[in-house]
Amino acid sequence: MQPDQLTASNLSPLVPAYDSILALAPYQTGKPIEELTREYGVSDVVKLASNENPMGCSPRVTLAVTEQLGQLSRYPDGNGYYLKQALADFNDVKVEQITLGNGSDDLLDILARSFVGVDDAIVYSQYAFVVYSMLAKMQGAMDVEVPAQRFGHDLKAMSQAVQDNPNTKIVFIANPNNPTGTQLAHKELRQFVTSVPSSVLVVLDEAYIEYSPESNNRALLDEFDNVIIVRTFSKAYGLAGLRVGYALSSVAVAELLNRIRQPFNVSRVGLAAAAAALADQDFIEKTRLMNDEQMRWLEKQFDTLGLGFVKSHANFIMVEVQVEMEDITAASIHQALLEQGVIVRPLGVYGLPNWLRITVGVAEDNLRLIDTLRSILTED
Ligand SMILES: Cc1ncc(COP(=O)(O)O)c(C=O)c1O
Repeated sequence: MQPDQLTASNLSPLVPAYDSILALAPYQTGKPIEELTREYGVSDVVKLASNENPMGCSPRVTLAVTEQLGQLSRYPDGNGYYLKQALADFNDVKVEQITLGNGSDDLLDILARSFVGVDDAIVYSQYAFVVYSMLAKMQGAMDVEVPAQRFGHDLKAMSQAVQDNPNTKIVFIANPNNPTGTQLAHKELRQFVTSVPSSVLVVLDEAYIEYSPESNNRALLDEFDNVIIVRTFSKAYGLAGLRVGYALSSVAVAELLNRIRQPFNVSRVGLAAAAAALADQDFIEKTRLMNDEQMRWLEKQFDTLGLGFVKSHANFIMVEVQVEMEDITAASIHQALLEQGVIVRPLGVYGLPNWLRITVGVAEDNLRLIDTLRSILTED
């Protein structure tokens, strides 16, 4: 570039690497409890917005975390030896097939950065976890969103989309999916993986697998080198605040991911807590039983209130709350719930403006939610 071609705009530090970055909106997190208390002066807040475990985490985690407190001046083990060993045993894979992440979001990001370039495409379903489309934009790649079928992934159409876009590098599939809670049959998924070229990575995001053990597609790893499974300790294990996730893949893929990740991407406390949490499968069983029981209860309440919902296989449920006759919208109900100390998730960002996603709480939380919702819906 000649000096006289330099203008104010191309000298600006605000020119992003790719134009698609300008189309990105920051990820909207569930409102933190502290923020609601500050804004509305309500104490006694019930948060049902981020699919966290309302039962907390295993008591074994407290001990493991406490043991680390005297060691905080020391870097963590960058290879996460003990946690990887425990995960290898738990999932029946080799240690070399595991990549650890600072939450599973970190792994999704590492995957995109490792494999997706400017001329490539990422394929995902309409209503799938919003981060997939963000990753395509971050990489300056094409995002191919395939229309959903009854709120779930339409795998035949997704397979066609891969064929139509030979530059596809990654297909992201959340199973069960957030925010719809829909689940895919094992046979269908296997067929899908068979139908796409082996050069396309199929990333199965199993963040909610503990709530739906039948969705476990671990077996596909032995059959297909292009399958990657991503899991998290943030949901059923109750460690969202610590940020630990992991990916299972072929050794060759893991070798690449481990080059891209930050050397100490999981903290010392996170490593110890995750290993302790994994060892307590009784806690996971209790969590699943509570979730199943409370999910059935919530479904009955929504039926009684005349609200539609999508059958969910995870720890949240998507509820339709538009009441046209009475001019009640999902946004107005979301706001009214907030003002009364109940945080749920509006789904406008997913193109579902009439729906709310509600995390299943413990009995007391759910009772409070339903009582508050009923009073809002029946207000004159
Ligand atoms: C489908 C799915 N994948 C990944 C994540 C990221 O979770 P984390 O980064 O806490 O592991 C979430 C969180 O909501 C999710 O719903």
